[in-house]
Amino acid sequence: MCGIIGYIGKRNAIPVLINGLKRLEYRGYDSAGIAFFSGNKISVRRCAGKIKDLESAIKGEKLRSVAGLGHTRWATHGRPSEDNAHPHRAGGTVLVHNGIIENYFELKEDLRKKGHVFKSETDTEVISHLIHSFLQKGLSFEDAMREALKLLEGSYAIGVINEKEPGRMLAVKKDSPLVLGLGDGEFFIASDIPAFLKYTRDVIILENNELVSITNKGVSISALNTGKPVRREATRITWSPTMAEKGGYRHFMLKEIYEQPRAVADTIRGRVFPERGEVNLEEFSLRESDLRKIGKVFLIACGTSWHAALVGKYMIEDMARVPCEVDIASEFRYRKPIVPKDSFVIVITQSGETADTIAAQREARKLGARVLTICNVVGSTSSREADSVFYTHSGPEIGVASTKAFTTQLIGLYLFSIALAKAKGGIASGQIKELFSELLQLPEKIKKALQINDQVLKIAKKFCYTRDFLYLGRGINYPIALEGALKLKEISYIHAEGYPAGEMKHGPIALIDNSMPVLALAPDDQVLEKILSNMEEVNSRGGKVIAVTTEGVKKVFAHASDILFMPKTNSYLTPVIFAIPMHLLAYHMAVLKKCNVDQPRNLAKSVTVE
Ligand code: M6R
Repeated sequence: MCGIIGYIGKRNAIPVLINGLKRLEYRGYDSAGIAFFSGNKISVRRCAGKIKDLESAIKGEKLRSVAGLGHTRWATHGRPSEDNAHPHRAGGTVLVHNGIIENYFELKEDLRKKGHVFKSETDTEVISHLIHSFLQKGLSFEDAMREALKLLEGSYAIGVINEKEPGRMLAVKKDSPLVLGLGDGEFFIASDIPAFLKYTRDVIILENNELVSITNKGVSISALNTGKPVRREATRITWSPTMAEKGGYRHFMLKEIYEQPRAVADTIRGRVFPERGEVNLEEFSLRESDLRKIGKVFLIACGTSWHAALVGKYMIEDMARVPCEVDIASEFRYRKPIVPKDSFVIVITQSGETADTIAAQREARKLGARVLTICNVVGSTSSREADSVFYTHSGPEIGVASTKAFTTQLIGLYLFSIALAKAKGGIASGQIKELFSELLQLPEKIKKALQINDQVLKIAKKFCYTRDFLYLGRGINYPIALEGALKLKEISYIHAEGYPAGEMKHGPIALIDNSMPVLALAPDDQVLEKILSNMEEVNSRGGKVIAVTTEGVKKVFAHASDILFMPKTNSYLTPVIFAIPMHLLAYHMAVLKKCNVDQPRNLAKSVTVE
């Protein structure tokens, strides 16, 4: 996720900006840049790569400025490169942005027709051109900013400086984080508090649609639309810098679990046209005619991404009635798969760099299949080599255990399934609208699901010293049982297995006794009664059942000692909601066992070797 730092004050801005960017490195980035005043003119320095490369680029120059902006870019539109790095300039307007401008394409076309020339592939550059165009019409800096923002759809945190008013910086946010630091005769904006914690601990967390105007005399905040002044009290931060990087969370994994409402909302943003009942196929770099030709789908991935693939099979076959095969990448590459001519391959990978997945992707292309990758990292090997890419906009995932990347992969698969079903004529537009309506409610439902955290902690305290764990699920939630078990193994080192609940009686039932907890995923769906029977099979052998079910399902009380009630959604999206307690349970068990949650033993975030 991009990182922003802005400074106005008594110090030389350059080292403040560089230091701020270093404190934001944990957010992940692929390029960096700064903008600062040289007299009344603004200079920009940018580079692809790391902040140390940026430092080397300016080394030896005696740069001084009382104000400036800095940015680390996590690519969403356009590959990582110097041209795409921020800050972006149009005339004397220079800005940095974190977020996604959904309607940038239309805005860019319109500005192009009016003679604007673009130098990058980013969505951000349109913002600087819009502000510049209003300044050219004679508006003040602040009014130009307000008018430009009226035209934007999407999410943003923006910092802007302008050669017309060198002593002023403007900033605004909508659905992307931005905080304000209040020092003694100096002021900061940043995506996150650690960027300026060295200089001040007095912070205002900005709300959506608040416009901030900063000079070296002070800060004024006003409502973006009305211009009415807004009074906000500063908060004094007591966290350590390391705590602050994690947004106050103890671990990156927990932070990432809690980021899911935002990650899912960003992944949906701009990808659906609810009024038309259509998926935005441009975001998949696909046409409906491509989809119509698909006779078979292969889903290929490793680890948690493979669990997403298994859920994807249920979605695609159920909605689009197109046969799917799911492969673990390391198996696909050596098993001599039969890939018919009309096959379509979906590769799923958070990092886009997993060696087995890349090899399988290459093999699939060699066999003549068209490949779509569902990937979280722009410019990664998988995204560069695929025919089409769907980026999950979950932001960088730092904890080794994949959480928000998984749930956003499921969103990609949900959208693909709807698009395929529509292309194949297998779904009515009313049905699509219902599927969209449920999808758009999902971020709020995830927020609600996260409220079970304290109950999960209690369950974790009860079971954290157990040696083995069994996870049961059925249908579309069987992969969530696998995911729960994988997470527990990975970070708490407790042996766990995921099973399709109906399969328990064919073997694992022999393990059941009073020291073997069994977690059963029992959403309110067509197989609820079946899984209740499986829970009874456990009870009657002295096992302990933890049930995860849908709110309002009272029947479960008779079958489980611990119960977690989750918000109701449609059956395709239950895996997203039911993954949340799986991730929280593994997290709490690992913390209670004093394990290294973010960097579990023997594991790497990205497995780039075979
Ligand atoms: O980056 P990828 O999605 O290709 O990674 C695949 C697996 O290595 C990954 O999901 C792994 O299983 C995670 N550590 C699970 O939490």
